[in-house]
Amino acid sequence: MKPFHSAKTLWWGMGLIVLGLAGISTFPLSGPATAPFSGWGYGGFYDRGSYASNGERIYFLGLDGEGSRIAIRGGPPWLKAMGGSCVNCHGPDGRGGFPVMMGTRVPGDIRFSSLSSGRHGQVGGEGDNGHLYTEKDVKRAIRDGVDPDGGRLDPTMPRWKMDDRDLDDLIVFLKTLG
Ligand code: HEC
Repeated sequence: MKPFHSAKTLWWGMGLIVLGLAGISTFPLSGPATAPFSGWGYGGFYDRGSYASNGERIYFLGLDGEGSRIAIRGGPPWLKAMGGSCVNCHGPDGRGGFPVMMGTRVPGDIRFSSLSSGRHGQVGGEGDNGHLYTEKDVKRAIRDGVDPDGGRLDPTMPRWKMDDRDLDDLIVFLKTLG
């Protein structure tokens, strides 16, 4: 029988690894910064360039009021590795509805009007879960990853270590989305 690892196979394999690494290293530069939202979650900053408020900047860049990256627990590995924020999963308009890479649940509609009226179900997902979110509930969902009844949100949704001021600013921005 032919040996499994011939020298030729090995070189091909190594070549492919190098090509793959080169691809990954250019991904954040060529992808999210300039490309329109594809509907798929990916790492890297989705940078609008200028921001009308601190809340908007948090939504797009995941940087706090001091300009440092907001610490997270959970979420898919690409988010920690490459950066990103709410926009990468819930989209620039906050409506969600698209599956994200390595995610186990489709992100919902997080415009404040949708959350507070219970119409934030997941398009193509499990459907409307009907929870009526108050401002306090939205903050808890973002910081602690729980729904208004105290149930655990899917771990695809990261837990964001945000201080009160940044969280308030972010809520104001979610209200501007509709
Ligand atoms: C890696 C993807 C991802 C990122 C980044 C992300 N979310 Fe989510 N988010 C989700 C998913 C998936 C759910 C649905 C969880 C569930 O239904 O259990 C969710 C749920 C929520 C909910 C609860 C509403 C609902 O319908 O369940 C709120 C509020 C929310 N996200 C706000 C945010 C905010 C604000 C940010 C940015 C600071 C953010 N998310 C970043 C994936 C993400």
